[in-house]
Amino acid sequence: MAPKNKTSYVCSACGAVAPRWSGQCAACGEWNTMEEMLAAPAAASACAVRSPVRAAPIDDISTAEAPRILTGMRELDRVLGGGIVRGGLTLISGDPGIGKSTLLLQICAQLGKSARVLYVSGEESRQQIKLRADRLGVAGVQLSVLCETDMDTVLACFDAEKPDVWIIDSIQTMHRDDISSAPGSITQVRECTTSILRAAKAANVPTFLVGHVNKDGAIAGPKVMEHIVDCVLYFEGDRQSSYRLLRCVKNRYGSTNEIGLFEMSETGLQEVENPSLMLLSGRPTGVSGTCVACVMEGTRPLLAEVQGLVTPTGFGNPRRMATGFDYNRLALLLAVLEKRCGYLFSNFDTYVNVVGGLFLQEPAADLPVALALISSLKDIPLPEGLIAFGEIGLAGEIRSVSNAAARVAEAARLGFTHILLPASNLKKIPSPPPGVTLSGVSSVRDAYQKL
Ligand code: TYD
Ligand code: MG
Repeated sequence: MAPKNKTSYVCSACGAVAPRWSGQCAACGEWNTMEEMLAAPAAASACAVRSPVRAAPIDDISTAEAPRILTGMRELDRVLGGGIVRGGLTLISGDPGIGKSTLLLQICAQLGKSARVLYVSGEESRQQIKLRADRLGVAGVQLSVLCETDMDTVLACFDAEKPDVWIIDSIQTMHRDDISSAPGSITQVRECTTSILRAAKAANVPTFLVGHVNKDGAIAGPKVMEHIVDCVLYFEGDRQSSYRLLRCVKNRYGSTNEIGLFEMSETGLQEVENPSLMLLSGRPTGVSGTCVACVMEGTRPLLAEVQGLVTPTGFGNPRRMATGFDYNRLALLLAVLEKRCGYLFSNFDTYVNVVGGLFLQEPAADLPVALALISSLKDIPLPEGLIAFGEIGLAGEIRSVSNAAARVAEAARLGFTHILLPASNLKKIPSPPPGVTLSGVSSVRDAYQKL
């Protein structure tokens, strides 16, 4: 018996499905996140006739990869894993005004030279897009603009135009008439994404979708949207600063570790050629509590300034705060510094901040964080030209990290003269770059004494 067209409720935070509405999601505990979802009209007797379909032996599957299309923005190509894949569906999401539309219009300037681009906007008028294109210097390229929110009209235009690249800004404005819920609701977003996916895959056209985020920073709509598309990029950045970070959280065609860095200027987004230099700009000198870390973001070493502030506490419970660094990791490092090295933090409030909006997830950031904290506790600045990386174990030992040679090379390129690194990593580096001292350290205590 065919199931009835039923309504179910989906949590917009975790994607859990429940048969009945409730104020709190039973799966993740979030309040007011359950939204109505109508089941898609089932195709009549889809499974009635089965034609014999054979699976392919794995040895017979060709792996010759179609050449990727370059967007002309190296930072974006890097995040995509080396360019756009034909038929790939990419979701770009981020806060309002972060620059999603700007980025997509800018890549049209390069793509439009050799390919026909269809830009569908449900948010802006043709005049607005034209004005922005003029400002960004997008002219004389094969770019057609459609301002429309009805999914059927958009698909009809796609079939008629037969573009080589398809851009939809944004998925939340699109709606299908046969679905009664409002544009931007879970059902609409899911069904529109599926319609776009079908059309794009059938025509083998690379497609970019813009997705809005809700106030918690997750992509508005259910998690299912992230499951449908091939690649999910998040555009992040501080409102106050002009720097923007493009982060990949899912990529069926490449690594998810890569990040791209941009700066918003009057003429659109500019790629940041030298991210480490940008992250270190404005670094204070001769001040206690700052240390430069070297972390790997994907295949690229990045330098970032870690700041620590240790002040006597006015409360019974000392405060601990971490921005750009894991809070629990900070608690662990403080415990190691107390127990293994004899630095007492229990009467001090402790703050850690990573400058430039980076989040240091890598354990290699442990050593610079510890050094910044010790430096602030003692109120003695660390030497100029110092950089450190290494993971700290619970016994206070410094453990080796990956890609030590690449980190040393990046630090030397930016003019650092003294590098503290795990002793086990030092053995594998044949000779230090000219003018650079490498100090291998095996414990935190040892590291501070070597300065
Ligand atoms: P936009 O791409 O419209 O953001 P989104 O599509 O993510 O909502 O970006 C708009 C912001 O970017 C707006 O605050 C103005 C700024 N901007 C510039 O600073 N320079 C430019 O050349 C452009 C086009 C926009
Ligand atoms: Mg926009």
